[in-house]
Amino acid sequence: MSEQHILAIDQGTTSTRAIVFDRRGRIRSVGQREHEQIFPQAGWVEHDPVEIWDNTREVIGLALGRANVPGGGLAAIGITNQRETTVVWDRSTGEPVHHAIVWQDTRTADLVAQLGGEHGPDRFKQICGLPLATYFAGPKVRWILDHVDGAREQAEAGELLFGTIDSWLVWNLTGGPDGGIHVTDVTNASRTMLMDLRTLSWSPELCEAIGVPQAMLPEIRSSSEVYGRSDKLDVPIAGMLGDQHAATFGQACFERGMSKNTYGTGNFMLLNTGTEIVPSENGLITTVCYQLGDQDPVYALEGSIAVTGSLVQWLRDNLGLISDAAEIEELAAQVDDNGGCYIVPAFSGLFAPYWRDDARGAVVGLTRYVTKHHIARAALEATAYQTREVLDAMQADSGVQISELRVDGGMVANELLMQFQADILDLDVVRPEVAETTALGAAYAAGIAVGFWEGQEELAGHWSVDRRWSPRMRSQERERLYRTWKKAVTRTFDWVD
Ligand code: G3P
Repeated sequence: MSEQHILAIDQGTTSTRAIVFDRRGRIRSVGQREHEQIFPQAGWVEHDPVEIWDNTREVIGLALGRANVPGGGLAAIGITNQRETTVVWDRSTGEPVHHAIVWQDTRTADLVAQLGGEHGPDRFKQICGLPLATYFAGPKVRWILDHVDGAREQAEAGELLFGTIDSWLVWNLTGGPDGGIHVTDVTNASRTMLMDLRTLSWSPELCEAIGVPQAMLPEIRSSSEVYGRSDKLDVPIAGMLGDQHAATFGQACFERGMSKNTYGTGNFMLLNTGTEIVPSENGLITTVCYQLGDQDPVYALEGSIAVTGSLVQWLRDNLGLISDAAEIEELAAQVDDNGGCYIVPAFSGLFAPYWRDDARGAVVGLTRYVTKHHIARAALEATAYQTREVLDAMQADSGVQISELRVDGGMVANELLMQFQADILDLDVVRPEVAETTALGAAYAAGIAVGFWEGQEELAGHWSVDRRWSPRMRSQERERLYRTWKKAVTRTFDWVD
C-alpha cells in the first residue's frame, strides 16, 4: 500500500485530531485528544502550546496505527487549526515565552480601544478587512511583548518567533530548533490584523501601528503547496488553512455565492465572494477564503460568532445541567418552546455583527414557569438566532440571496437545532455525508498540491447530501421569536466599563 492516503491534522479550540482520508475523501481513521482550557481570570483564555504539540504527535500515531497506514502510505499532510490563537516562542530552544492566548480571550480590550483612538474600530479595516477587536492575533502579540520581560528586544533581534497554531505545528513538524520552517498561509495570516488583503503580505503600516516587529513574523504562503517535509514521517506538508476556510473548502464551496456554516465552539459562516474583496457594511469581516498555489486568491465574507457549542459545554461544565453535550437535545425536546427564556452567550463580548467588547452574557425572560428544559432549549436556540443575524448581514453585504445553507461541525448531529435553524432562517439546511469538512478541506488542499487529486472538479464530485431540513414554522411566529431575541441582545450591552 503506497501513497493511498492523506493525513489531516485538525488542531481545534478544545481538541486536536488527526484523520486519515482515502482517495474518495472518506475517513479511514481518527485519533483525538482534548487539551486543557486555562482561565487565569475572567475573560482570559489560554492554551499550553507544548501540550498541543505533544497531543499532535500522539494523535498522528493513533490515527496512522488505527488505519494501519505507515508513514510511507501517505501522499501528504494537511494542517488546519483554530485561528487567531497566538504563540510566541524562542527560535533557538523552541520554548514558548507565554501560554498561547486564545482567540476568545478579551485581555486586549483596552489596547484595542487605544489603537482605534479617534478613528474608532474601523481604523484598519480598509487594509486588513477586520474591525479592531480582541478576537484577532496582532494585539495579542503586542500584549505578550509588553508583558514578558525582555520579549520585545528579543523579538526585534529575531530571536523570538510569532505564529498562529498552523505555524507552531509546521515549525515543530519540520524539525523545530533544528531547521524548522517558519511559515503561515494566507488564510491564517488574514486573521492577524497585520496582513494587507490586497498584496497578501505583511503591512508595514499595520505592524508599526500595532507594535509587532516584522522580524518575528512567518513567511506567508498559499494554502496549497509543498511547504516542507515532516522530519519524522518524511512526508510533504502541503496544505494549510484556518479551520473555517478549510471547512469551506471541504464543503466544496468553490463557486462565488456558495456558503457554509460550521457549528463548533463558536459558529462561523463563510460566503465565497470569488476574486473580489467585498467590504462589509453590516458587521461582517472580509477574509481570504483560500489560495491554491500561484492561482489568484479567493476571498470570503465571514460572520464569526464566538459562543455556540461552548454554551452547551458551559451548561455541562459550569452548571452541571447535563453530563454529556449530546444530552442537551433530549432535555430541550421535552418542551415545545423556550417558555419566554433567551440566553445571549456574550462570554467574550459579542462578535459579528455587533463587535461589542463591552457585552457580557445574559439570561432574560425568566419567570417561575421556566424550567431546565426551557434553558436547554434557549441555549440551542441562541445558536440559531445568532446565525440568522449573520446570514441577514451576509445577504445585505453581498447582494447574494442564499438559497440553502451547507452545515457541518459537532452540533449538526442535533436534529432539534437543525430543524429550528431551518425555521428561523426560512431556508433549507443541508448536511453532507462527510461532516468532518474541516479536516477534509485541509486534506484536499494538501492532496491537490501533490497531485493526489486532480483539482476542484474532482473534489466537488465527492460532495453528497446526507440530510436536509426544510422550514416549517409560520412566518409570524418566526419573526416574533427573532424580534424578542434582538431585544434580549440589547440587554447585554454596556456591561463592562
Ligand atoms: O476563529 C476561531 C475558530 O477558528 C475556532 O474554531 O472550531 O476551534 O471552535 P473551533
